[in-house]
Amino acid sequence: MKHILFAASEGVPFIKTGGLADVAGSLPKCIDKEFFDVRVIMPKYTCIKQEMKDRMNYVSHFYMDFHFKSEYVGILEAEVDGVKFYFIDNEEYFGGMKPYGDDTLWEVTKFAFFSKALLSVLPVIEFRPDVIHCHDWQTGLVPVYLKERFQDNDFFRGIKTVMTIHNLKFQGKWDVKTVKEITGLSDYFFTPDKLECYKDANLLKGGLVYADAITTVSDTYAEEIKTDFYGEGLNGLLCARSGDLRGIVNGIDYDDFNPATDPHLPFKYDAVNFRKEKVKNKRELQKELGLEQDDKKFMIGIVSRLTDQKGFDLISYVMDELCQDNIQLVVLGTGQEQYENMFRHFDWKYSDKVSANIYYSEALSHKIYGACDAFLMPSLFEPCGLSQLMALHYGTVPIVRETGGLKDTVEPYNEYESTGTGFSFTNYNAHEMLDAIRYAERIYYDKKREWNKIVDRGMATDFSWSVSAKKYQEMYDWLVG
Ligand code: ADP
Ligand code: GLC
Repeated sequence: MKHILFAASEGVPFIKTGGLADVAGSLPKCIDKEFFDVRVIMPKYTCIKQEMKDRMNYVSHFYMDFHFKSEYVGILEAEVDGVKFYFIDNEEYFGGMKPYGDDTLWEVTKFAFFSKALLSVLPVIEFRPDVIHCHDWQTGLVPVYLKERFQDNDFFRGIKTVMTIHNLKFQGKWDVKTVKEITGLSDYFFTPDKLECYKDANLLKGGLVYADAITTVSDTYAEEIKTDFYGEGLNGLLCARSGDLRGIVNGIDYDDFNPATDPHLPFKYDAVNFRKEKVKNKRELQKELGLEQDDKKFMIGIVSRLTDQKGFDLISYVMDELCQDNIQLVVLGTGQEQYENMFRHFDWKYSDKVSANIYYSEALSHKIYGACDAFLMPSLFEPCGLSQLMALHYGTVPIVRETGGLKDTVEPYNEYESTGTGFSFTNYNAHEMLDAIRYAERIYYDKKREWNKIVDRGMATDFSWSVSAKKYQEMYDWLVG
């Protein structure tokens, strides 16, 4: 039996701001329990819903030296679908209304605390992982601390680490002097071949230097991040470590995302009856959101963090033009104010066509996947993307830009060969995007049988974890030997 610990800053069903939570919550369940004991550790944010806090049990607590202070480290645990989750409790660090804030220094401090605490917790819970699988910059210091102070201890010696990049854009950077004080790491670690990066200290970089293996969440992104454009300043390091870097595409949990059983959908449907049943969800959603009620309208959905990453500047550029078409657009998301306001504006201007829902809602997200004809995701970069996988499974045809995981998971429609599961465009250009949307409109309105076959093929794709979980298992086997 091999023991694996997932270290992540969010995970379903406890707390979610994006795809990382879906992965950290669903992948562990899909790793073969006969050979692997996978557990998850994350912060106990005070903003976790009470019903989920009620499922946690207190385990123990101790005090840990951190940033010139002695800090409380509480440990709680909970079990979900046979997977054990541990939570690190300290209300000073993990308080607030949201898991992440805008104060970068505080974020760096908070997750440095988390990284050190999660290592210190292991002997207390008597769980010695063979591999600590770290996710994103928030856990970048884990491989560093492990090398620096924990390896002298028999308990920790030989523990391997994996660093998975879900998003290279976020790295956890602050000036060297301050980070040195916060982390207690010596000068030795703050050189350009270690944590220092363009004069700053960089937590993700530390993880990438010290991890035994590096993965990211699609093959294409694994290649892209070795280039200047996508490499966010770390492409040199990623090229140097390319022998240890691999792409493993994400899956989704088809128990949670299944149109035949989804409790959020007023009308359930499957790959056989979607032609008749799916449109009923569209009707309901049009009613609920105050859009014109018309079964035949081409309804496009967006469920997303509203950030530059997701290509919203392209959308804002052609929004007026797009709204001249015979379409409806339903948006659910929060993020940068300029995009929130842009969608609010168009909701006001074209009230029977555009519905802007600027908040977070699990229920509405499922209704959008279940009701819309198409799903728009014109990302500037996209490490993997889970929304398009959800859309495919709900028979909602993705319209995407060919980047990262979008390129690897959506096969462009080819009308001559009658293949493909979605529509795509190559260059980051608003009119290329609009052309792709209009091509989709034409097929939807003029060649409905073809459209339905695209849906058939999309619903038949398998992006469950089955294949990718095996790849992680192989990697753990290879690391541990
Ligand atoms: P990212 O992790 O970059 O945000 P992904 O496509 O990997 O992008 O995952 C996004 C996840 O977050 C999906 O499960 C999507 O449905 C969900 N999501 C994003 N915004 C919202 C929102 N406002 N309300 C509900 N779910 C959302
Ligand atoms: C990140 C990426 C997204 C990916 C998710 C889960 O948030 O932006 O593309 O799907 O992590 O790996």
